Amino acid sequence: MRIVGLLHDVGKVSIPAEILSEPGKLTDLEWSLIKRHPVIGYEILRDVKLGGPIAEIVKHHHERVNGTSCPEGLAGSELSLESKIMAVAYLVEAMVSRRPYRASKGVGEGIEEIIKNSGILYDKEVVSVCIDVIEAGFNIEKSDYCKL
Ligand SMILES: [Fe+2]
Repeated sequence: MRIVGLLHDVGKVSIPAEILSEPGKLTDLEWSLIKRHPVIGYEILRDVKLGGPIAEIVKHHHERVNGTSCPEGLAGSELSLESKIMAVAYLVEAMVSRRPYRASKGVGEGIEEIIKNSGILYDKEVVSVCIDVIEAGFNIEKSDYCKL
């Protein structure tokens, strides 16, 4: 999972830097390029021997348990536990991170988002464990990951 955490967005190398750093609203075409990054990441990693289904997890890190997301619209048991963990971790990390188009929202908003969508977009058990980890003292805002 640590390797997946480091490589999950490798497919963004295919997106022009101007789009990734765009502070304003993106066009439909720009969004379509961004939505392809999980598949591009899969294509980059599928033949690399990393000791697990890392390419598949990378491909599915934006999938949601109700099947409403991309790239394949997989739902529930069609998704691996690892993909469900990555989806929750990604969301919380994204809320904590500063983006070109917004300031950090903080871990509190990340937790609100995963609780609000527990069992809808995010796996209930994974959300529960994520909250347990944060309540036990893990501070994502001070973790090494956020310093990369
Ligand atoms: Fe991503």
